Amino acid sequence: MKTSSAFPLLLITFSLLKVAASEEGFCSSPYSVVNSDTDSNTLYWKVTNPTLSPPYLRDLPGFTRSVYRKDHALIAPESHVFSPLPEWTDTLGAYLITPAMGSNFVMYLAKMQEKSRSALPPFDVERFIFVVQGAVTVTNASGASDKLIVDSYAYLPPSFQHSVKCDASATLVVFERRYASLENYVAEPTISSTEKQPLLETPGEVFELRKLLPTSLAYDFNIHIMDFQPGEFLNVKEFHYNQHGLLLLEGQGIYRLGDNWIR
Ligand SMILES: *[C@@H]1O[C@H](CO)[C@@H](O)[C@H](O)[C@H]1NC(C)=O
Repeated sequence: MKTSSAFPLLLITFSLLKVAASEEGFCSSPYSVVNSDTDSNTLYWKVTNPTLSPPYLRDLPGFTRSVYRKDHALIAPESHVFSPLPEWTDTLGAYLITPAMGSNFVMYLAKMQEKSRSALPPFDVERFIFVVQGAVTVTNASGASDKLIVDSYAYLPPSFQHSVKCDASATLVVFERRYASLENYVAEPTISSTEKQPLLETPGEVFELRKLLPTSLAYDFNIHIMDFQPGEFLNVKEFHYNQHGLLLLEGQGIYRLGDNWIR
């Protein structure tokens, strides 16, 4: 969630957070929030399954932890609204953040079904996809393709011809943004996975940090994977103009946003 001052053009960072849950301690919940036998077996089932707690509030009409404020929003899974993604085939999308809410990027979940296929983003818009469930194949204009499984990702520069196909089912988190170009810098398409990225130094912090994109001027955003073990926390109290999109992949935690303590 930090932007290095060495790279003032990194206007936004997106974080995918993994918070390990302990049996005891402040990260633990006295209630089981596992309510779906099949989905709870998948690694990042919390991304798409309602995690309301305590359980007696789970089915209360109108109850949600979701909030939408001027400078931040918490969008809990039970508030996701899926509808067909324009020009994608057999894919449902839930927009979480869009410029209509004041951000300079779009973040959405895409649920790809059997034999589905993506559409291209608008001209000049870069795209980042990260697989949270299932598998997809990304193919470029020459027909070269790569299979992406959970924890794999692709960065597709602006106006880069590609297609994402899914044979069975997959859930992706997708970030799109109108690319801020700099003369003489070119962002390259990238396909990789989280575990291939080195752990980075986090002076003054205890959590584990990986960056999924190169930290060079050709890239106008980055994606951070932040792993917190029980009791670990972000020490820095950030106050800035940078915009963040954040997806909690695993576990639970407490996050202060603006004047709110969000759980
Ligand atoms: C597609 O990917 C292959 C393998 O990485 C590469 O050799 C080729 O140049 C790429 N084509 C385009 C149009 O990017």
